[in-house]
Amino acid sequence: MTKKTIVSLPGDGIGRVVLEEAIRVLDAADFQANYVEGDIGWDFWVKEGNPLPERTIKLLEEHKVGLFGAITSKPKDAAAAELSDHLKGKGLVYSSPIVSLRQYFDLDICIRPCKTYKGNPLNFIRRGAGNAIEEPAVDVVIFRQNTEGLYGGVEWTNPPDLVYQGLRSHPKFVQNFGNVPKEELSISTRIFSRRATERILRASFNHARKYGYKSVTVCEKPNVIRETSGMMYKLAQEIQKADFPEIELWNTNIDAQMMWLTKNPEDYGVIVAGNMFGDIVSDGFAGLIGGLGFACSANLGEKVSVFEPTHGSAPKYADYPVSIVNPIAMIASACMMLDHLGEKEISARISVAIARVISEGKVKTYDMMKMTGRPDVIEKGAASTRQMADAVIAKL
Ligand code: NAI
Ligand code: MG
Repeated sequence: MTKKTIVSLPGDGIGRVVLEEAIRVLDAADFQANYVEGDIGWDFWVKEGNPLPERTIKLLEEHKVGLFGAITSKPKDAAAAELSDHLKGKGLVYSSPIVSLRQYFDLDICIRPCKTYKGNPLNFIRRGAGNAIEEPAVDVVIFRQNTEGLYGGVEWTNPPDLVYQGLRSHPKFVQNFGNVPKEELSISTRIFSRRATERILRASFNHARKYGYKSVTVCEKPNVIRETSGMMYKLAQEIQKADFPEIELWNTNIDAQMMWLTKNPEDYGVIVAGNMFGDIVSDGFAGLIGGLGFACSANLGEKVSVFEPTHGSAPKYADYPVSIVNPIAMIASACMMLDHLGEKEISARISVAIARVISEGKVKTYDMMKMTGRPDVIEKGAASTRQMADAVIAKL
């Protein structure tokens, strides 16, 4: 078997800790790979004025697959204040390197699976008929458009004249904002392109077909946001009719979907949405299956793919002598990478091992014991990050 090369991108804080554990699990499961480390994150911003150095981009261009921990981001001014002295005052502006990666490599398809592990004490429960306690098995995969929409970055405060005049050509603008002084306007655009919308829709239908989900739900707001949400839903109807007749197309509004999140989460299969609504709905479903310690994701482009847990660098836990955070989100993200690389057997073995550790219930990190994260959780019986990874390895 030829060895794959994976670009490991530890980043900051607990990103470094959980990535190391995930790689130990991959090794123990006999995944044949070399790891080359890509520099990314806060240290490189401070020392070099760039949290995503060119050499890291080159590594990803060459090897195509990245396994990423997490980074620390800070607001513009706070970031500028932490630059090394020789870089201060040069007009350098911080921007999140993971957002930059998604944009640079056009990682436009974000997949966030939310699947209940049996026996997870953090699983959502609800009251059913006759006061019975129900624990619905959630198995939802959210497809989030990752590069456009409200996170596309096309925004202004006090817009330039050309933009302002363009806006004035729209009757609704004149009606609703015509009397607002230009300097008092802040505008963030929501732009969808047909190509990217079609790509995320097709990816979601293909996934439903491949993994046997019976429905794809477009979760937007087409009755109000007529142009962007409207285009997505209309395209979904065309694609379903022409190419995926066996899969049901459902349509929910993001607000109603969040209100009904806990009512029937077990009924949904694949959910597809634009950037912001996809972010919202995926966090909502992640909450039903255990939250940030369990939420994994993939960012797929045409050439490069990056796999990462949804959580950030959790700086307050970064320097604990014994790390307490849950590595499962990172390990499950590594499984998504294995699936992407066609290593289904190894991925399935690791997933089954995680499921067995959780259902046995002997090894639990602090979040699974509903403790407040503090160094003393270990004395109180919580597993450390390493112990959780060891437990998974023992079940392989
Ligand atoms: P966060 O996800 O780092 O942490 C929020 C809280 O969630 C933590 O305090 C902890 O209680 C819990 N948590 C997170 N991961 C956990 C795990 N594996 N196991 C158990 N508990 C866990 O989000 P926060 O605090 O908003 O941001 C911290 C830094 O991370 C910021 O600088 C932010 O910009 C960055 N960030 C980076 C992301 C990325 O790299 N993709 C995503 C989100 C935030
Ligand atoms: Mg989010």
